[in-house]
Amino acid sequence: MGIEERIDQLLARMTPAEKVGQMRQIAGSGDDDTEALIRQGGAGSFLNVLGEQAAAYQRLAVEESRLGIPLLFGRDVIHGFRTIFPIPLGQAASFDPGLVREAARIAAREAAAAGVHWTFAPMVDIARDPRWGRIAEGCGEDPYLAACLGAAMVQGFQGSDLRDPERIAACAKHYVGYGAAEGGRDYNTTYIPEGLLRDVYLPPFEACVRAGAATLMSAFNNLNGVPATGNAFTLRKVLKGEWAFDGLVVSDWNSVIEMIAHGCAADEREAALCAVAAGVDMEMTSAAFAGHLESLLAEGRLPLELIDEAVRRILRIKLRLGLFDDPYRRNTAVPLAPEHLEAARQAARESCVLLKNDGLLPLASTVGRVAVVGPLANDGGEQLGCWAFDGRAEDSVTPLAALSAALGEERVRYAPGLDDCRSCGERLIPAAVAAAREADVVLAFLGEDAGLSGEAHSRAFLDLPGTQQQLLDALAATGRPVAVVVMAGRPLTLEPVAEKANAVLLAWHPGTMGGPAIADLLLGVASPSGRLPATMPRTVGQVPLYYNRMNTGRPPRGDAPCVTTGTPLDPVRHYATYLDVDHRPLFPFGYGLTYSTFTYSDLELSTRELKLGEALTVAATVTNTGRARATEVAQLYVRDLVASLARPVRELKGFQRVELAPGEAARVRFALHTDDLSFHNAEMRRVTEPGRFQLWVGPDARGGLQGQFEVVE
Ligand code: NOJ
Repeated sequence: MGIEERIDQLLARMTPAEKVGQMRQIAGSGDDDTEALIRQGGAGSFLNVLGEQAAAYQRLAVEESRLGIPLLFGRDVIHGFRTIFPIPLGQAASFDPGLVREAARIAAREAAAAGVHWTFAPMVDIARDPRWGRIAEGCGEDPYLAACLGAAMVQGFQGSDLRDPERIAACAKHYVGYGAAEGGRDYNTTYIPEGLLRDVYLPPFEACVRAGAATLMSAFNNLNGVPATGNAFTLRKVLKGEWAFDGLVVSDWNSVIEMIAHGCAADEREAALCAVAAGVDMEMTSAAFAGHLESLLAEGRLPLELIDEAVRRILRIKLRLGLFDDPYRRNTAVPLAPEHLEAARQAARESCVLLKNDGLLPLASTVGRVAVVGPLANDGGEQLGCWAFDGRAEDSVTPLAALSAALGEERVRYAPGLDDCRSCGERLIPAAVAAAREADVVLAFLGEDAGLSGEAHSRAFLDLPGTQQQLLDALAATGRPVAVVVMAGRPLTLEPVAEKANAVLLAWHPGTMGGPAIADLLLGVASPSGRLPATMPRTVGQVPLYYNRMNTGRPPRGDAPCVTTGTPLDPVRHYATYLDVDHRPLFPFGYGLTYSTFTYSDLELSTRELKLGEALTVAATVTNTGRARATEVAQLYVRDLVASLARPVRELKGFQRVELAPGEAARVRFALHTDDLSFHNAEMRRVTEPGRFQLWVGPDARGGLQGQFEVVE
């Protein structure tokens, strides 16, 4: 019997109470009544219940409830389970869909072994504001990159068959617009015009749906006045209508009843009605559905078809996971298996972005004594980053441990310099300076602890917290060469760091194997290959700052001077810029150095006249002109030069990692279809308008070889 028939049969047998029960997700192991509730069919899903407890609850549901419908166990498996991979923003810096797919596969494998069926990932919220702490959990600022990587994560978690006990259901979140929180304050209001929503914020979700994402999560934010959890436009019209999504929509934690605080529902009853009518199928944590849907049905305020539709979607996922046939599904994967750790090491290596290097890195094998300094040099917990529930500090290999192993303990001097990242004291700085003086080179591990990013962890300042800059200044004053490794959950304002350091490597929060991966890069075992998935501002005052902006009528000149406030306005000439800081980012989107150099040449377009509905091929030669084997991430950008609505100055349309030996060259090729050039016009129709387009193939959002072509009817 097919899945839909099985659902029909079940729905025909279910009471309204049992139907509403399926729509309830309980957080944690609940209270004393939980077991009775499960026996009555009053719960469809749990989050954060694992192992034996999950198995015991499943037994009650399957063996002691009237219809024996299995429970669905969800958990935040965001960037690994026991083996923690780099935070998603770090993984995004790899520009490597294969790598993020593999990280998700391993996370699914370990989580499924512990009884997890469903993860609340990937987060594909576009984030243009690094103050927002949850930028750490997503793929950055670009819709194309987030779409490619989000889809890869979905494939990694789910594989091709959800019944595979090594796979789990994915959940694309937070639908939608959550990352556009005003001022970067988490949960804050968002205003996103429909065209921008459709061109920038929705595409990563659509890509996840196309990749087969089993579920989506509705967001906390109020979007254009309507809370995302009660938003019929985004949920019913776009997701379930236009995209024909047939999976389930779960609310975020209490986001149904938070519609009361939003001022969009009078009480829990109205909130429940609003959420179900809008298209939410399951309520996470709060119990407004459980408390009110049955009576709303009885009163005729809620049509039975809506409840049946929600329950159908929930049962569909349970059937797709094979839970009716194998409710206790597990696998025997060993957490922290050597191949998992090796994949995590590779992921961390590929995530690191080399921002500056005056030649200090890689350290020569003949390097003498090394001072390893900083609050993040030896903290196995903080290097895991936010949302690492099942990761354990003691499983981590820290940079200090990895460097000591690689160089020999006798060559390493360790001094933390500060008690922790946020410490404002200077007590430990002298010992760090003394260690630096005794060393030939200083490696300083600075940045943010894990608790400075993630949910509800927004920052108004993006510089190094505590007295870390003082520590760095003191280290630099010794005259010893200093390489700074920054661990962080977001782009920071690193100008003062780059000024003082000879080299800066951005490692994000690199996960369990962060230490060995960083050591590999510092010692030249591998060359850095990460690229920025989000623009790095010079100062928080520039935020929001993103590469795919509009041009304005008075675009800043590339060389527009930065004038000190108080000088005559004249030199600024009324451009869209600042008086007191360079308008340009410190490092652009897509940027990253390596231990070699690359040139681009021989740009070739297969045609200069592209017919609507057809594709052209863009090719260029990338040559490794340096002395190290290294990977370049070639990027394709386009600009629609004249359109019925203003279009961004650049949009990423392709990227390709190419690993080349010194002197080696390769041809990179990108296919560009006219559909890839489309946008939503004033009537909200997705169109590609004929006319001239500019394109670039190059190393980041700033430079590149340039070409032009025309789209013709
Ligand atoms: C709230 C967060 O916003 C969401 O991302 C997460 O999945 C749920 N809590 C469950 O922990």
